[in-house]
Amino acid sequence: MDKIKVGIIGTGYVGLVSGACFANLGYETICLDVNENKINMINNGISPIYEHNLDELLNKVVLKEKLLYATNSRKKLVIDCDVIFICLPTPSNANGSIDLSFILNELKEIGSILKTCKNYKTIVIKSTVIPGSTMNNFLNTIEKFSSKRLGDDFGLIVNPEFLMEGSALNNFNNPDRIIIGYHDHRSKDIITSLYNSFNCPIIYVTFDEAEMIKYVSNSFLATKISFINEIANLSENFNINMDHIVEGVGLDQRISPNFFRSGLGFGGSCFPKDVNALYSLSKQYDSELTMLKATLSINDIQPLRAIDILTDIIDVTDKKVTILGLSFKPNTDDIREAPSLKIAKELHRLGSDIYAYDPIYVNKKINNYDYIKISNNYQDAIKNSYAVIIVTEWDEFKSLNSDDFEFMTHKLVIDGRRILDPKLFDNSLVRLITIGNSKNHQLN
Ligand code: UGA
Repeated sequence: MDKIKVGIIGTGYVGLVSGACFANLGYETICLDVNENKINMINNGISPIYEHNLDELLNKVVLKEKLLYATNSRKKLVIDCDVIFICLPTPSNANGSIDLSFILNELKEIGSILKTCKNYKTIVIKSTVIPGSTMNNFLNTIEKFSSKRLGDDFGLIVNPEFLMEGSALNNFNNPDRIIIGYHDHRSKDIITSLYNSFNCPIIYVTFDEAEMIKYVSNSFLATKISFINEIANLSENFNINMDHIVEGVGLDQRISPNFFRSGLGFGGSCFPKDVNALYSLSKQYDSELTMLKATLSINDIQPLRAIDILTDIIDVTDKKVTILGLSFKPNTDDIREAPSLKIAKELHRLGSDIYAYDPIYVNKKINNYDYIKISNNYQDAIKNSYAVIIVTEWDEFKSLNSDDFEFMTHKLVIDGRRILDPKLFDNSLVRLITIGNSKNHQLN
């Protein structure tokens, strides 16, 4: 067989990273998007999204090796490519369930093109979709619009992604496992050969199982975080440092210390949305996942822990309060569901004068949060503040010491991510309170 040609529908975060990485493996890759600006950027080797090393990779595969290009021609992509990855968004509905309309509309279009195609094509669902979506909705749609049959004329695969923003290229190249949900053997063999250079287990499952594996992975990790956050809140009443708890518990290999860091809660475009979607599905089937309900409600209030501590000590009305870190985690510019925004909203309600600094949010405005004054550097943001809350653990903040907070009006620092070294604050006028560390609460 000739070398597989890869098509990617949707050049968002998952699509573009996957496309660039497949091209890097030597596959000719075509990416489809409706946004002309994005297409031009990609074709000039520039990433429209911020992701570590993606610009360099696009430069290599687009400009130097000419293995990848972007287009708005769906027809060309479907005709030219053997394997077509659907990497479209599945936004939340008001009740927490997910909206499949982007994917369904796309599959109608692809189906109509398939009608005239002679070659066998494999369509791969990479978007995160709830169990049942592919078997009950996507398959029928393709068959209806193409008038073709699964297995005879086209293949369908569910292949969820496990890419973390900020380390997505590394995650793509070094996966813990590859999940392949399949129904027909021909497309199973084709997708297996696409991944043949990977040295990790490949798990073959049903469509529903592949979809469920993705939700269980994200929901389990989110639950682990909510669990440790609740333990951290309780532990503040005792002489406990959460780092010791996580080390002591995490060394049990059954538990592991990963995704066990307490702080101000999880955010981003995946955990909140996916936990909500699985919870919503469970209610729909009269099988309510009450544990996930708790995961979500703990996470809703965890960012406000910083404000509870703050308002126990000072009245924040009309006071300058500074947030360090806006993105939902370091090394990304993504602020979706970021704890920083929940904190800013509450501070605004309390009448604070809110300043912020984020290494990647310099000179940007946040829609609906115009009351957050974003400084160009942390020094300006901190100056004359009554309190500073560290919300995102950017490297730039890790080495801050008491001298960096010298020009505050009232020297109160809340470390919401447990990154500052308390020793660097000993014998200083700065009061450092670390979330999940009772010792610092008792100082002063
Ligand atoms: C997450 C998953 O980790 C990926 O495997 C998955 O593919 C992706 O969602 C997705 O579904 O597309 P991501 O949203 O990029 O990736 O972010 P994570 O690195 O998982 O972090 C999520 C949140 O949990 C962040 O707000 C982070 O600060 C928080 N977190 C993480 C903690 O509070 N404590 C921890 O110990 C770890």
